[in-house]
Amino acid sequence: MSAATLSFSTKARRTPESPISYFMEKAIGNPNLISLAAGLVDSESLPAGPVARAMAEILNDPKAAKAALQYGTTRGYLPLLEKIAGHIATLDGTTAQAMGISARDVMVTTGSQQLLYMLSELLLDPEDIVIVESPSYFVFHSVLAGTGVRVVSVPMDDDGMKTGELEATLTRLDAAGELHRVKLIYTVDYFQNPTGRTLSVERRRDFMRIVHAFAAKQRILVLEDAAYRELRYEGPELPSLKSLDAGNRHVIYAGTFSKPLSPGMKTGYAIVPNDLVDHLIRLKGNHDFGSNNLSQYVIHHLIANGEYAKHVETLKNVYREKRDTMLNALQAEFADMPEVHWTKPRGGMFVWLTMPTAIPTTPGGAFIENSIREGVLFIPGEFGHVDDRGPVPKTEARISFGDAKIPQILEGIKRLRKAAGAAAP
Ligand SMILES: Cc1ncc(COP(=O)(O)O)c(C=O)c1O
Repeated sequence: MSAATLSFSTKARRTPESPISYFMEKAIGNPNLISLAAGLVDSESLPAGPVARAMAEILNDPKAAKAALQYGTTRGYLPLLEKIAGHIATLDGTTAQAMGISARDVMVTTGSQQLLYMLSELLLDPEDIVIVESPSYFVFHSVLAGTGVRVVSVPMDDDGMKTGELEATLTRLDAAGELHRVKLIYTVDYFQNPTGRTLSVERRRDFMRIVHAFAAKQRILVLEDAAYRELRYEGPELPSLKSLDAGNRHVIYAGTFSKPLSPGMKTGYAIVPNDLVDHLIRLKGNHDFGSNNLSQYVIHHLIANGEYAKHVETLKNVYREKRDTMLNALQAEFADMPEVHWTKPRGGMFVWLTMPTAIPTTPGGAFIENSIREGVLFIPGEFGHVDDRGPVPKTEARISFGDAKIPQILEGIKRLRKAAGAAAP
């Protein structure tokens, strides 16, 4: 008797397999592989010492130990929520009060990824529209695919999402009678994953002007994914969209301790408009009724004793050197291929390569197959695009200086150059 097949939900059937697993499987056979593909953070500088000390201090204090090892609240550890509100306001050069936020508008999440997913549950139905910049964070594309929404892309350049195009897109949707379907605009506005680009100050102001201008007709929420914000290696701090949203009505700020501290602690946070937080907490109750409480205590401890700020400063020096190594290596290795271009990120951990048309980065193509044979891995850029505007670009690639060590970055770029040379017709 043959067993009956499993019947999955519509959402499960809509959710695509991660495009990365194919490459990881291909790569496993090569122990000398240099992965410029993974988005892992620098392993060498993970803050084992400060975390161990914070953990010991918490666990050696009987009252704190009992609280930290017990369930916490769904919203999160209140002293941490207060620190988060103050921390973001400080980055924005202002006070939480001036931003119209307080600890009440903050919620801790199990990584910022949980927030991205929860928002899709909270806000989106299949007939809705979500606007993304193109290219964008492909894991969020997968979340959106699961919801069945229509994804509308807005092109970007070195100054981030083209706000003129955003306005034109909203105007077009309005004229088509579809503005009421637009629920969310998603932007990774600092050192974007995957391109490393940052939304300029002028565009930030324009972005919020547009959102506010359309607010009389449709309250469009903005998901500002600031995952890489604190990893800035040069240039002045830029105001968050959140800080430009007077009245705290439109912007959901997604932050995380994964990149500036430790992804293993899997602790992120949301700062949201006042009328959203209770709904999110209800949903989170169904997810996990509270993120890892011990991690929250440790992070609070590290912020309070200054170790967090010290660590972020150390990280900036580590990543700045790696970024410079990668950019200099690209300059040296690809000097004889002027058709190859790449972004020059001022922070984060990603560089976005554009190859000539003759060297596509497509899975199964000569460049990627040669790269795997040479022992270097990148992410094909097409995974970051949606095809609402026609065929997606096939010549881009994301490379990361996150976890690769300096000699590996140098060797990895050499291998890429070899692979490109062998792929050129
Ligand atoms: C743009 C962006 N957003 C969100 C996340 C989720 O990170 P976490 O859930 O660890 O906070 C990542 C992780 O790589 C990311 O690159």
